[in-house]
Amino acid sequence: MNLPPVIAIDGPTASGKGTVASLVAKKLGFHYLDSGALYRLVALGSQKASIEPQNGPELGILAKKLVISFKNGQILLNSEDVTDAIRTESIGLRASAIAVHPEVRQALVGVQHGFRVAPGLVADGRDMASVIFPDAVLKIFLTATAEARAERRYKQLIAKGISAKLEHLLHDLQERDARDSSRGTAPLLVADGAEVLETSELSIDQAVKTVLDWYQSKVA
Ligand code: DC
Repeated sequence: MNLPPVIAIDGPTASGKGTVASLVAKKLGFHYLDSGALYRLVALGSQKASIEPQNGPELGILAKKLVISFKNGQILLNSEDVTDAIRTESIGLRASAIAVHPEVRQALVGVQHGFRVAPGLVADGRDMASVIFPDAVLKIFLTATAEARAERRYKQLIAKGISAKLEHLLHDLQERDARDSSRGTAPLLVADGAEVLETSELSIDQAVKTVLDWYQSKVA
């Protein structure tokens, strides 16, 4: 059976992979999976249910039970619109903490595979190329320096009217990088066969064009 093609885009927090991945998906008419949103949903759900971030078994049970849906740009958790609630820095940090547990990761595998629908999928996260879609036709590790990423995040928050301190953002981001890269299960890494895309000096359009060119050369 021929499964629809997947472009897997992994990378550290605030690297711009979500923006690039969703634009690439739009250009190709492909579906888009923001796998980080799933970990954020488990983080929010566990906070509401007062489950400690260290409790892997309970978190795994919760992750299996959550009713998640993505509709017209909105993200619903058990029918509640949580699109904005999952984007806070504290939920991001909690997501990174709960994502270390194999029980949580295992519970989310099926949901992620469910996004692989014709004509194709662009999936972004930390382990898209290494674990979830190892047969992806194109694998990309999209990154930028920690300073460039902190500055991007800072500008996004300020533009939204949310106050932020650059040095705090840099510190949080380095903490998440360290945890996401050093965990035992599915750590953030450059997968075998992945192309590295360094975006510190690239515009979004340039990064999108590079991915599209690489994809065309893979399928040509
Ligand atoms: O991409 P993001 O910042 O929304 O992800 C939030 C956290 O979720 C990230 O710090 C680690 C975790 N995550 C993961 O472990 N595996 C993924 N495929 C995606 C996210």
